Amino acid sequence: MVKIYKDLEELSRAAARILLEAAQSAVKTRGKFSLVLSGGNTPRRLYELLAEEPYRAQMPWSKTHVFWGDERCVPADDERNNAHMARKILLDQVPIPDEQIHTIASTLPPLKAAEEYQNTLKDYFRGLSPAFDFVLLGLGENGHTASLFPESAVLDEKRYWVSQVYVPNLKMWRLKSTIPILNQARKIVFLIDGASKAGVLSQVLHGTRRPKQLPAQLIQPQNGDLLWLVDQAAASQIQKDTEG
Ligand code: 6PG
Repeated sequence: MVKIYKDLEELSRAAARILLEAAQSAVKTRGKFSLVLSGGNTPRRLYELLAEEPYRAQMPWSKTHVFWGDERCVPADDERNNAHMARKILLDQVPIPDEQIHTIASTLPPLKAAEEYQNTLKDYFRGLSPAFDFVLLGLGENGHTASLFPESAVLDEKRYWVSQVYVPNLKMWRLKSTIPILNQARKIVFLIDGASKAGVLSQVLHGTRRPKQLPAQLIQPQNGDLLWLVDQAAASQIQKDTEG
């Protein structure tokens, strides 16, 4: 389902409400809430809102476990590290126990870090299928999401839960949860803002299926909900698509 908002502020406020509702419902039914954060700049405002009232008080932080869908292989205090921004803006500001923040060991050799994070996920899910309660994702202008870049070999990964991937044009290793894992989530929410995303969003949603070129098309939860929260600028092309 696609929901369109006036601007990033409204979009972020809606995302905060949806996230809170998912957290409360997960805690009520399963006793805890697993939240997968994304990198990129778009979720910054959402993270700020979650660190402020009323969300700071209403979120079940003591029962929330935080994970990352992908991480850049740079030290934890590097501005490019996905967990760095989330920690600074959100996690350091709310009463979440440190042992419930499951960061990726981004300075280990990539294969080792991927194995370690897979073990972290296996420990958390304890033999059950790895169905995260809430996965937050962003969309890149080239159709990538969560370090799933066009033409990357990791797009076909079926065996491992977490994989290392080298991104040649960024000259950087990244670590990422694989598509079969992400697609078991109960809810996947994309946050997309800005006119620069309008073309690619329309291709991902209404264009020909070309998952090798548009990896975001591979995100299709098996049993969960898929929500696209989009601001008007990013939605301009899909509105034209639906108007015919
Ligand atoms: C990453 C992100 C990535 C991001 C998109 C959108 O680490 O690169 O996980 O998938 O979500 O590139 O980024 P913006 O929100 O900055 O546009």
